[in-house]
Amino acid sequence: MSKEKLIIFDTTLRDGEQSPGASMTKDEKLRIAKALEKMQVDVIEAGFPVASKGDFEAVNVIAKTIKESTICGLARAIDRDIDGAGEALAPAASARIHTFIATSPIHMQHKLRMQPDAVVEQAVKAVKRARRYTDNVEFSPEDAGRSELDFLCRVIERVIDAGATTINIPDTVGYNVPHQFGQLIHNLMERIPNADKAIFSVHCHNDLGLAVANSLSAVLHGARQVECTINGLGERAGNAALEEVVMAVQTRQDLFSCNTTLDATQIVPCSRLVSNITGFPVQPNKAIVGANAFAHESGIHQDGILKSRETYEIMRAQDVGWSNNRIVLGKHSGRNAFRTRLEELDIVFDSEEELNSAFARFKDLADKKHEIYDDDLQALVTDANLVAENETVQLISVKACSETGEIPTASITLLIEGEERSASATGGGPVDAAFKAIESIVNSGTELTLYSVNNVTSGTDSQGEVTTRLTHEGRVINGQGADTDIVVASVKAYVNALNKLDQGSDKGHPQLGEV
Ligand code: KIV
Ligand code: ZN
Repeated sequence: MSKEKLIIFDTTLRDGEQSPGASMTKDEKLRIAKALEKMQVDVIEAGFPVASKGDFEAVNVIAKTIKESTICGLARAIDRDIDGAGEALAPAASARIHTFIATSPIHMQHKLRMQPDAVVEQAVKAVKRARRYTDNVEFSPEDAGRSELDFLCRVIERVIDAGATTINIPDTVGYNVPHQFGQLIHNLMERIPNADKAIFSVHCHNDLGLAVANSLSAVLHGARQVECTINGLGERAGNAALEEVVMAVQTRQDLFSCNTTLDATQIVPCSRLVSNITGFPVQPNKAIVGANAFAHESGIHQDGILKSRETYEIMRAQDVGWSNNRIVLGKHSGRNAFRTRLEELDIVFDSEEELNSAFARFKDLADKKHEIYDDDLQALVTDANLVAENETVQLISVKACSETGEIPTASITLLIEGEERSASATGGGPVDAAFKAIESIVNSGTELTLYSVNNVTSGTDSQGEVTTRLTHEGRVINGQGADTDIVVASVKAYVNALNKLDQGSDKGHPQLGEV
């Protein structure tokens, strides 16, 4: 019996980017969009075009480039947002506008300060306006998870009449639990007279750790689109993790009457890419994409796996892309082999100079580390991009000393707007000393609110990938750096965050402010 299709709507580039510190550049977003297209994601929510010029351009370039997935832009239920989304999406082969307005008593009263009747009229008007640009229009009653059922039914019936083709039910604050959320979807689909004219979708946040469970419960009750993000990235505790939703549905086909058409072998490469670009590490015990997801430590488990894989594994590691992390290159690999492998990983350089500079870095790395894996290449390219985009502060050199019984010291030389400046400092350890030396030069006034180190591959010769988070006057900026030397990687990450801070951004947040 053929199954119904479950539409996978990825919002890594929109809701995912709303995670504090996860902002991405236009090029980074395009790289992720290409990886999502390769994975055959049905809909890519590429951003919130009116948030900033950068967001508009990112949605626009993704709309121009991606041909296999539908490209979606978010818009509040106001003319300016809808027109901005329509314009940004104009070049898309397949475009969707996603418009939303809050429907819960608490949001209508305190955020919108609007009467329910006015909310209904504004929702209808927004959907009609969006239909001027595309016949693929999604409507979300924001905070549906805390809205009154009768009111939700009223709004949804009207927006379907106005032309909405997808109705997305967000559990905006992650308040629902699975049986209740599934029942909500069931009730809406039963009670709304024109429910059969739209596809029902869900968008769950993970505040109680239930985003995936709620989404799956909704699918069991008739939802046919799930909104999710790679690695569960997203506002606060994040959104439902794409990899978990997809693998639950694919693995438990005995329970689900629908299936996705996603190429699951792209899940792990995509997860690595998003983690590299955003600097949000994946916890080792994370389902599907965590380093330990398919590792069997205990003797009993290992014995069982050797006798028959099914004893302790419900999925095959290679089916979600784990086998892709091959040893690909080494010290003697040439420029052509390097370029070919990067192309296989969908990494293409704009110019020969960029390729040459990445190749020089690769040779440097291969001298320090004999076996180069795909993950090393991803980290190397991300690191190279960071340097290319950093203009104001550049690292010239770092020297760090640590010895038992001695106070760690570090000396730094930076190039700041063409001028070389050096400083030394002591600290609790060499990294602390290096950061203090940098601060004595730049006096950024920032607070370091996160410092994390991850090894890109295994072994002590692995590159360390460092994330730093700086907070300054309410802004949160993540910086990244990779190197086989942890102190150098840390300094690169700190300098990267300083540069991002310097570039600044007055990006609007879709769920705050007007409407
Ligand atoms: O969480 C939410 O309600 C959203 C909407 C914009 C769909 O992200
Ligand atoms: Zn959301």
